[in-house]
This record gives sequence, C-alpha cells and structure tokens, in this order.
Amino acid sequence: KAGDKDVDVEEVLFFPDDLETSPRHPRIPLPGALFGGRLNSNGVEWGNEAELDALAQAMYDAPDAPKVKPFAAKDVDAAMTRAAKAAPAWRDLPVATRAAALRRGADLLEEERPALMATLAREAGKTIDDGIAEIREAVDFLRYYADEAEGLCPPRDLPGPTGELNRWQARGRGVFVTVAPWNFPLAIFLGQTAAALSVGNAVVAKPAPQTPRIAAQAVALLHRAGVPEDALILAPGGVEIGRALMEHDVLAGVAFTGSTATAKAINRALADRDGPIVPLIAETGGVNAMIVDATALPEQVTRDVVASAFRSAGQRCSACRILYIQEDVADRMLEMIQGAAATLTLGDGMDLATDVGPIIDQDALDRLHAHIAKHKPRWQGKAPAGLFLPPTIIELGKDEVLKEEVFGPILHVKRWKAGQIDKVLDEIASTGFGLTFGLHSRIDATIAHVTAQATAGNVYVNRNQIGAIVGSQPFGGHGKSGTGPKAGGPLYLSRFVEEVVISTDT
Ligand code: SER
Repeated sequence: KAGDKDVDVEEVLFFPDDLETSPRHPRIPLPGALFGGRLNSNGVEWGNEAELDALAQAMYDAPDAPKVKPFAAKDVDAAMTRAAKAAPAWRDLPVATRAAALRRGADLLEEERPALMATLAREAGKTIDDGIAEIREAVDFLRYYADEAEGLCPPRDLPGPTGELNRWQARGRGVFVTVAPWNFPLAIFLGQTAAALSVGNAVVAKPAPQTPRIAAQAVALLHRAGVPEDALILAPGGVEIGRALMEHDVLAGVAFTGSTATAKAINRALADRDGPIVPLIAETGGVNAMIVDATALPEQVTRDVVASAFRSAGQRCSACRILYIQEDVADRMLEMIQGAAATLTLGDGMDLATDVGPIIDQDALDRLHAHIAKHKPRWQGKAPAGLFLPPTIIELGKDEVLKEEVFGPILHVKRWKAGQIDKVLDEIASTGFGLTFGLHSRIDATIAHVTAQATAGNVYVNRNQIGAIVGSQPFGGHGKSGTGPKAGGPLYLSRFVEEVVISTDT
C-alpha cells in the first residue's frame, strides 16, 4: 500500500495479464517502473505519458540530439576492414569475458528502458506494452546467448585411440554481417548481433532504414558494456549498403531477418562471390494460419485471434494472417471476434490507452490499402487520421488461397466443413511458408493429428500464436519462412561458428 514513502510500483500497479512473461526475466519492468518507478504518498504521481513524450522529444527534437548518419558506400570497406582487424582478439578472449559483456549489456538495457522505450515508441510506433515486451526479449537474447556460448565454446577432448589427443573447438568465423528488420528493431537487431558476438565473431550490424536510432542506442550500450568498438560497428543504410556488405571480401557470415525475397537476393549475392562459401541464417515471413474447430472455447478463441492478428498492428512475422473456422460455429465466432476487435483503441504508441499503434510508414500503409481494395472487407474497425489502419477482416471465397504475407492488421477468414481438416492442412502447406501455426480444439485426437501434420516451425495450441519466448519457444520457420536454426534455441549458435579439431600424437 502506498504510504508516506516511495513504494515499489511492481507491487501495486495493474499489469496487462496477456503480456508475455519470461522465465528468464523475473525482474523485468512494469509500467510504473518504466516511468520512474515510484509512487508518492497519494499513490498517483508515478509519472505519465507526458514524461515519456518529453524524453522522446528531448532525444529527437533537441538541437543536440544525436543523429544517425547513413553510411556512404566507402564507409562499408572501412567498417569491414576495422571489424576484420578486431575479430581475432575478440575471438581469442575467454568466452566468459564475452559472456560477461553481454550480461552487462542486458543489465544496461534494463536500467535504460525509459530512453529505449521512448525511441521504440517514437521511431517504430511501438505501444508501451509492445515496447516493454521488446526490451524484455532483447535482454533475454543477451543472457541466453551468453549462457549458450559458455556451453559451446570451451574446447572438448574427444575419445580416440590411446596415444592420440583429439581436441575439438567451436569458435568465431570472423566478421558477421547482421541485417535487422524494423518491426523488432531492438530485440531482433540485438539478438542476431549478440549471437554472433557471443561465440567470438566481430559484427557489422545493419539496422532497417526506418529504425537506425534504436540500433545506435543498442550499439552504444553494448560498447559501454565492454564490447570493443571495432568488434561491433553500426552500418546504417539501405539496400545499397546491404549489397556492398554482402560483396565485401572479409565477410564470413550473414544473419538476416526480413522478407523472403530479400533473403533469396542475399543468397544469390553470396553464391556469386569469389572466395569462401558464406553461411546465411535467414528468418523471413509467413502466411500464418490458425484452425478453429467446433469444440473450441469461443471466448478463448476471440482473445487469442484478436491478439494474434491485430496486436502490434499485425506487424509481426508471427501474426495470424488467416483463420480457418469450422462452419458450424463460424458466424457466432466471427461476431465475437469483431466485437472484441471493435474495442481496440488505435493511437500514439506513447499513450497508455493505446492498444494498437501506427503502421510503420506510408508505403506500407499504401500496400495494405491496395490489398484491401481488391476485396470487400467483411468488417472494419475505426482508425484515427494518420498512419493507422483499422483492424480489418476479409472473408475469402471457397477457392481463394492467400499466398502472400500481408503485413498489417488484416485477418483473412475461411470456413471449413467437418471432416475436411486435412484439406485445410493441405491448403496451408501449399503456400510454401511455415512460420507459426495456431490450433483451437478440445479434442485430443485432433490436436495430436494437426500438430503432427502442421508445416510450421512454431505451433501453438489453444493460445495465441505470437510472442515467442527466448529459450522456451525457439523461433523460426521452414520452407519460405527461413533457413533455421531457430533464434533463442539450442542450435542457433552452431551456425555462427567454425569447428576445428586438433589431433595430436602424444
Ligand atoms: N518473435 C516474434 C514473435 O514471436 C516475431 O515476430 O512474435
């Protein structure tokens, strides 16, 4: 209870119960902590959106606010050369030293969350709870890869004939380039980068052109945490800079998250290089489906569909794009989903009342409008003026198949007849994507059958299909959705290392 003294807000403040929770993360912030973490004796003065807004304005609009200057083509060679020089010393440090720097980085992320949150809201349009979840995910990645690297990197003696010593070691490959998306400009940016760093690679990190500020904050934070400046270099810029990075001689590996088309273009560019064969880890999109049968609990389906399709304005690669509802319950279920979606508040990310923030930019909004114009939406919510798209539901005809990812708050719906679930599974598989997949059913045999057949990397049963937790739900898909290994999973670091065995006759 709030007395005369400041009290810990974590004990008093309401916190959205559907926010992802992380086993790795008991200390992560609640909203009050975000705004300064204190209540006064009246129990109210814990800070507010205005405070966050002021912080964002100071960081963005002040004359001395740091700007992120995009790379010119010539900067690429300088950055790659510097990173190549720094790589051996970073690789040869004890893994515990690298892990300590990443863990210190995780602590700094927690300490500096208001400034990070302000940038996430201002630059990427994140709502407060999405921003909190994103900072939490970034912290999780840093701690997880620190732990995993400490498991992977120490040399191991392998069994062999008497008189022979076989020492196996996994170590950094050299200079990794990481290419991050705008939709998780902190968590994915840092996740890819931390993975590469943890096992001893130097990194040249290219953020999305829309979100260089949060990336610059993250890189500065890792430098303060102990990662040498030359072992981690920010390379802001667009396609040209990306291309030049892929062509550079010292490149030893690429971790990319973004569209399938770009992943394929990178793959082609890497294949055409002279010199070493360079690995690509690509995490791309999905046409993610959820199947609902007649036994599913309508309230649960409603909650999970609304979260999966509309939260984060549908700008998650995991988001539900198409809902297959058994026809017997479809009308009732859709009415409930529409009713719930109608209660979502769209608005500025920094407003605590906002459930759904803006679309990232005008081009993206135009593409979504163009998609909607080709159909007659069954239902659409309301949106304020600006870069907002109201939650939209489009019902597809029997023979219409959604083949492409539509990256926004647009849910497609199809009905299916009892006994035809295998046809639905075939249709989903026919897209060639396989990222996330949802099922709502209360029949054990259906759950067993569908989860065995589902062509996706992350399958969610009787829950929403977004917000994978590092270390608990390793994330990444199959087919057109990516190469694997899964981010935040036990095999991820294996693609960032080269192996050596030294066999010595003793
Ligand atoms: N990892 C994110 C999620 O699971 C990616 O979109 O939602």
